Amino acid sequence: MLPLADDYGRVATDLRVSLTDRCNLRCSYCMPAEGLDWLPDDQTLTDDEVVRLITIAVRRLGVQEVRFTGGEPLVRRGLVDIVRRTHALGGVETSLTTNALGLQRNAQALRDAGLDRINVSLDSVRRETFHEVTRRDRLDDVIAGLEAARAAGLGPLKLNAVLLRGLNDDQAPELLAWAIERGYDLRFIEQMPLDAQHGWSRTEMITADEIFDALSAEFTLTPHGAPRGSAPAELFDVDGGPATVGIIASVTRPFCGDCDRVRLTADGQVRNCLFARDESDLRGAMRAGASDEELAQRWVTAMAGKLPGHGIDDPSFLQPDRPMSAIGG
Ligand code: 5AD
Ligand code: SF4
Repeated sequence: MLPLADDYGRVATDLRVSLTDRCNLRCSYCMPAEGLDWLPDDQTLTDDEVVRLITIAVRRLGVQEVRFTGGEPLVRRGLVDIVRRTHALGGVETSLTTNALGLQRNAQALRDAGLDRINVSLDSVRRETFHEVTRRDRLDDVIAGLEAARAAGLGPLKLNAVLLRGLNDDQAPELLAWAIERGYDLRFIEQMPLDAQHGWSRTEMITADEIFDALSAEFTLTPHGAPRGSAPAELFDVDGGPATVGIIASVTRPFCGDCDRVRLTADGQVRNCLFARDESDLRGAMRAGASDEELAQRWVTAMAGKLPGHGIDDPSFLQPDRPMSAIGG
């Protein structure tokens, strides 16, 4: 086994695989209304190519968890099959980050394929606000998707929310009450500079401290005892528990020192960080006939150069060339 270690003592065991850069929503913190220039099909990894790279990661590089992302992974036709083949490798946890559109149709098939967990993005439970944030009037489909996932045994379901000033930042307690009532685990994530339109601003961003204060106006939050490890969320008991809420201070309290992630884009590039400026091309090498061993070696080299942190607060910070939807969350 060749571990994916870097110069700062971190070892990546959590692989995020983006299966497509396309999406059926247009969240304003992610994409412009008109969408983006999607990857051409010939540059997108085939199902067999994705599974080959995942197999190398699990069998040779010590990856223990594979999370499928996008764009929106449910729009990828081969998703269920890719999950099944990943699960069949054994010794690997599988999970999915999704907006839940279409999950109603696929939840049981995903569970049967061996999917372990699901994270759903949900920024508002008010129809008009959901529409405003995502530019699509699809809240009902998301709610139906969540219920289907629960019925299929894909719980405990995690919800991710991003708060945007003037749009949904007044709705944090309402979202938490809604989630608790239904037994979903909610986590708020600070907005990161990963949108295609470069609309992020440090001063406009709703900080973790603001989120804490907004929730504290209606709930009593106390730190949840369990150690945080490499999990980025700071976890709090809500009104004494057992319900909890997570706050992910990606920008104001970065957790880069504990990062155990590595990313594979839909076009077969390894990224050692969401904010990396460089990628390592596995697709080209694979299509030129590289062996599994050569691909593994390339992957190890790509990880060794991981920087210690994202540096969002540095004056010299440069947003990555590709947006979140092309990198995989
Ligand atoms: N900042 C923080 N979170 C984001 N997400 C997408 N773009 C951003 C951003 N710029 C979230 C989505 C989803 C997960 C993949 O990341 O809401 O839950
Ligand atoms: Fe789609 Fe996710 Fe981007 Fe929203 S954040 S537009 S659901 S990829």
